[in-house]
Amino acid sequence: MITCSAPGKIYLFGEHAVVYGENAICCAVDLRTRVQVKIDETVNIESVLGKTGIDFEIHPYVSAVIERMREFIPIKGVSIKINSDIPVGSGVGSSAAVTVATIAALNTLFNCKMTLEEIAKLGHEVEVQIQGAASPTDTYVSTMGGVVLIPQKKKLKRIDCEIVIGNTNMLSSTKELVANVAKLQNSYPQIIGPVLSVIGSISKIGEELVINSDYASIGNLMNINHGLLDSVGVSSIELSSLVYAARNSGAFGAKITGAGGGGCIVAFVDRMQVDNVAYAINAAGGSSIITNATEHGIMVESN
Ligand code: PMV
Repeated sequence: MITCSAPGKIYLFGEHAVVYGENAICCAVDLRTRVQVKIDETVNIESVLGKTGIDFEIHPYVSAVIERMREFIPIKGVSIKINSDIPVGSGVGSSAAVTVATIAALNTLFNCKMTLEEIAKLGHEVEVQIQGAASPTDTYVSTMGGVVLIPQKKKLKRIDCEIVIGNTNMLSSTKELVANVAKLQNSYPQIIGPVLSVIGSISKIGEELVINSDYASIGNLMNINHGLLDSVGVSSIELSSLVYAARNSGAFGAKITGAGGGGCIVAFVDRMQVDNVAYAINAAGGSSIITNATEHGIMVESN
């Protein structure tokens, strides 16, 4: 029996702008998806979503991983059990984590000797196959861990402050939100273009602040980034309520993380303020999750 895990992620800065070639900073967080695998007679996949064989409705990512890996290893039967701390479909990278953790587990079980780069690349291909479009960011950060400047894939210094995620518990479609921003950009290129490039500048200045562990200034830039995301139409009353609840209860700063429309916000918080911020997010109608940045990407947990 092999168990591999992979983390979720948050965006400090730069979602949406990154689609237009601007910089973003992404950070793996210590919420993990664990995938347990062992050889079996047939394919069995088990998660909170149900027990299936290859099934592209219920377990699309894991099913696609098995089919892709069958192109280079003869997987006859395998039993796969998934459990996860990562909220599903909320911009925290649940699909990337289950995809790369499954690849890593099968890679270990069948001794395929794939490198981390190869795992991240196959993970991205699987996400594209299932979602139609996906940036390589989620699968890369989930595979490698740490804080990463995109698109350079440059690892930055470890983040050492509390991270509180606030989930609106409302699902949203990344594809739709990216399309909405593109429509706005087509209608008002002279306005939206500069907004996206200012978001890119925030990431560039943010890189220096991460290196200096200046979390108060990072918080200020997160607040500005949230305002700019709001201006391109990807916030909502629910998201902004959680952002303001976090700020008003002592967070350094707070913003949407990921595509927006629903899903989650992220707040950077001093240790002393964590309980206040989590409480305020819950009181504003969200579900808070207290976590930390992690340097650990894919981990083989037992062998
Ligand atoms: O919500 P998520 O985790 O899928 O993040 C989307 C990030 C975008 O920049 C909006 C899209 C992308 O592919 O980079």
